[in-house]
Amino acid sequence: MTRFLEILPDSVSLIERAKTLILGQISTVLQTSDYFTIVLAGGNTPKPLYDCLAKEDLPWQRIHVFWGDERYVPKDHPDSNQCMARSTWLGHVQIPSDNIHPISTDSGDPTVDAQKYQEHLRDFFQQDWPSFDLVLLGMGDDGHTASLFPRTQALKITDRLVTLGNKGTDPRITLTLPLINLSNRVIFLVTGENKRPALAHIFADQCDQSDYPSRSIEPRGDLWWLLDESAGAELKK
Ligand code: 6PG
Repeated sequence: MTRFLEILPDSVSLIERAKTLILGQISTVLQTSDYFTIVLAGGNTPKPLYDCLAKEDLPWQRIHVFWGDERYVPKDHPDSNQCMARSTWLGHVQIPSDNIHPISTDSGDPTVDAQKYQEHLRDFFQQDWPSFDLVLLGMGDDGHTASLFPRTQALKITDRLVTLGNKGTDPRITLTLPLINLSNRVIFLVTGENKRPALAHIFADQCDQSDYPSRSIEPRGDLWWLLDESAGAELKK
């Protein structure tokens, strides 16, 4: 793994930088692969990035979109990560519906839907342990990422691609650490002063990874941390 840290002046320049990295990687990967696989982050930070990507003229037939986690709500619920990505991006581009691979929350049982997503991934990639081209991640102010929350059972799962990652009593479905760490690139998008304390722990020489799960993200390829000044000012020193 090669780690890159960039602190951008503000969230607008961070989104622009992320877009440049993503478009560059799509172009590079599609020179030698039939398709590009990207895993989306939920939350608020990526929304303007998805808005920007909706304006790009890309080979959508060769781009496949997955999710890193999903809140266990209906797909049209305002908290749904799928709903957010479709409304900001996927609903505005000519991407085939078969290229969109949401985490289903239809069965009523998160365990069942987590297993179904794992089966879907294995069927799509025809591999037991697939490697995504790119995983986008956010980070909570407690250091969680995807739905891998501090001191939860999800952090210990090593034999599955997808598991439950509950936020308190809210059920969530999440990709597991070993699957995320098989990816060729991870880009963290982190903005806001409220993220500073967790970042200080994550970038310290020693860090308890169970307290700050984002520290456990060590992809096979490269790891990009894109921070705005508000989030990353302390790391500049
Ligand atoms: C989610 C995300 C979660 C998010 C962080 C940061 O489903 O909410 O997967 O991990 O990326 O909580 O969220 P913000 O971008 O809103 O700060």
